[in-house]
Parts: sequence; structure tokens; C-alpha cells
Amino acid sequence: MDRIMVEKSPPLKGNVRISGAKNAALPILAASLLGTEDIILEDVPKLKDVEIMCEVLTSLGSKVDYLDEGVIRINSAGISNYETSYELMSKMRASFLVMGPLLTRMGKTKNSMPGGCAIGTRPIDLHLKGFRALGATIDIDHGNIGAYTEKLVGDKIYLDFPSVGATENIMMAATMAEGETIIDNAAMEPEIVDLSNFLNKLGADIKGAGTSTIRIKGVKKLGGARHSIIPDRIEAGTFMVAAAITGGDVVIENVINSHVKPIIAKLKEAGCTVEEGIDSIRVIGNSELKAIDIKTLPYPGFPTDMQAQFMALMTILKGTSMVIETVFENRFMHVDELKKMGADIKIDDRSAIIKGIKQLKGAVVKASDLRAGAALVLGGLVADGITEIENVYHIDRGYDGIEAKFTGLGAVIYRKND
Ligand code: UD1
Repeated sequence: MDRIMVEKSPPLKGNVRISGAKNAALPILAASLLGTEDIILEDVPKLKDVEIMCEVLTSLGSKVDYLDEGVIRINSAGISNYETSYELMSKMRASFLVMGPLLTRMGKTKNSMPGGCAIGTRPIDLHLKGFRALGATIDIDHGNIGAYTEKLVGDKIYLDFPSVGATENIMMAATMAEGETIIDNAAMEPEIVDLSNFLNKLGADIKGAGTSTIRIKGVKKLGGARHSIIPDRIEAGTFMVAAAITGGDVVIENVINSHVKPIIAKLKEAGCTVEEGIDSIRVIGNSELKAIDIKTLPYPGFPTDMQAQFMALMTILKGTSMVIETVFENRFMHVDELKKMGADIKIDDRSAIIKGIKQLKGAVVKASDLRAGAALVLGGLVADGITEIENVYHIDRGYDGIEAKFTGLGAVIYRKND
């Protein structure tokens, strides 16, 4: 099993280029099942999750070719299968995103309940509510979920919560439904906009992505397209926090500044200097950073996917910080690990109170999920001694070349294989 070793590092300095967004690449790969001509995707991050999604596509009959670094060609003209295997589904929750495309393309789909990060119960009721509204019959049996339909017909769907995955799945299913589908209280994340732009390039008719009302007019057929994945705002945010926590000076390149507004605001509030370029952001930390509070919310609020990394920062800020997690009900699994490093954190339900301490100490810790793993890397950069991170496969699911990028900024980080 791989472990990532992080040693106390000097203030990070230099430039780092952000990869394409995992959370845009995965739904766009799933949406590639809808196209009947060649699809070329660029800036696809090199991640375990992307590999799994490509395996899912291949298992369904798509042809997937890696053309160049970050460039994938997909042709789904001949897809023949409508069932995903338990083995692939259990590896990653996002595999469930093939359900919408398969339902609309094949009229049927069967999948097992999705796996992925253990950050709450993560139900799929809203996805299914959408499919039912479009006319599908849902059949749940022994952990398998089937959806069947003679034909999908557009409808008005109100999401009780602006779920990212449900918005994407329903949007994809609606692309070839008869008539118009309106999704109200839709998620507004930039990754939804990227998916919508991609689908429109294939020939779909989607308006309003990025707002809370998305209108999809069904079309008969989708074709091919070339599309570049947007930069990963969470990877960008992770390196911004790395600059802050180490008191460094880092230029983050290939970032869409408007996507990381809450991260910029909170780092400034803590006392960092943040300079915005056109598609780059420079973050300069210092030794006098002070406590801040964050509350996670759907976009454009503070992203839950940055909560753990900010908590790592808060452990050494001057004063007492608070985190309120409103998106997932069980997303504090990094707390026990940060405590092993000496952090002073108390949890009460969905709130955490973090009293800043002078110095974290290296320890053997476990990455319980993807972003929790990133938080431990950040803590390790400023902890005395060596931090040894286990279960790094979680980190590999979402960070493309994490050691190389950190090493390029002067961090002491390496992988050990037992
Ligand atoms: C996506 C992201 C993930 C991010 C999350 C929230 C991908 C591949 N993953 O996950 O990194 O942390 O958005 O920004 O894009 N919910 C329901 N019923 C449903 C669906 C969701 O109650 O049918 C609830 C979930 O339990 C959770 C909340 O809605 O409490 C948010 O989940 P959702 O937005 O769906 O997250 P994902 O799409 O799974």
C-alpha cells in the first residue's frame, strides 16, 4: 500500500498549473454516452476516478482512446450494454451518472447502488425523482436500481436540495426526452455549466445552466464535439491554502477566478494577500494569520470540498475558528486525524470549533476521504517531523500529480511503497 510522507517544509514558493476539474470531467465522460460521433476531450485530469469512468464507458460498449496527455477520444456510436457492474459502481459514486444518459439513449439502465467517499449517507432519491418525473419506472431490488421507459417526456422538476449529481443526471436524461424539461432549484456549480456547454456542443438545447432554473428542450439525436474541461477550482483552492498555511508565495495558474471567490474572500479575511491575474491567482501568506469562520453551502457559497483543507489551516491560525458543514452530515472524519497531529478541535453535530495552536506535530494518519487526505498533506507541510498518510488511494482519486506539484513549490513530500 502506498503512503505519502510529508516533512515540515519551507514556505512554498513558485508557480503551479492546475489540472482540469475532476467534477467536470466525470459527468462529461458519462455524457459522452449520448454522442453518436467522435468526442475529443482535452485537459482531462490524470486521476483514478477518470480511469474508472473510462472503464465504465468501455464496459458499456464505448470506444475510449487516450490520444495524448490529457486528451481522450470517445466514440459511443455502438454502445450495446445498459448495465454497469457492481465492481465498477462500488468504486466510485460518480459512476451513477451514467444512469441518465443510458436511460435516454437506451430506454433502460441497471446499476448497483453507488460507492465513493464515505461522507454521509448520500442518498440518490433526487436523481430517481427526476427520472420518474420524466416517465421512467424505477425498480430497486437487492441493491440494484433499474430504470425503464418506453419514452421519456419532459416535465417540471423541483429539487428539494440543489444536488449537483441529481441536476447533472436529470439534465442528461432530458436531452433526448420529448418536449421541455425544467429543473427548478437546480445546482449552480461551474461544473454544471461545463456539462451544459458540452452537451450543447453535441447538439442539445439547454438554457439556464449556472442559474437555479435549467430548461432543456429534447432533441432527437446528439453528435460529436471537441471540448476542454474547465480548471479544477478545488485543486486551485488546495494550493491557495498551501501557500497560506506555509506562509509562502505561490502563483496558481489556470484558474477561473470567479469560481474561487469564497476561497479568496476567506484567505483575505485570515490576513493573506491575494492578487488576482487574468487566469492566475497569487497567494502570499504570513506568520500573523488570524482565525476565521466558514459555513459550507451549495455554489456560490463556500464549497464543502474545501472544508477539510481550511480546517487544516485553522488549526494553526491565531484565535478560535468555527466550521459549519451544511451540505453533508458526516464530513468531519479528518478531525480525529488532525487531532493526532495535536490540533485542538471539538465537534458538536455539524459544527466544529478549532482553537489555533502554535505547532502541529507529524503523526501516522489516515486519509478517510479525498479532501480529508488533502487536509492531512497541508497539515503535514507545517507539522514538526514527518507526517505519514495512509489510504492515499483516496488522494489519487482527485489530485493529478500531487507530489510533483508540491515538490515543484519546494515542499518535502514523497511516496513510500511497503
Ligand atoms: C458532488 C461532487 C462532490 C461535492 C458535492 C457537493 C462530483 C463527482 N462530486 O457530489 O465532490 O462534494 O457535489 O458539492 O461532482 N442528496 C440527497 N438526495 C440525492 C442527492 C443528494 O439528499 O438524490 C444530498 C446529499 O446527501 C448531500 C447533498 O445532497 O447531503 C449534496 O449532494 P450532491 O450535491 O448530490 O453531491 P454529489 O453530486 O454526490
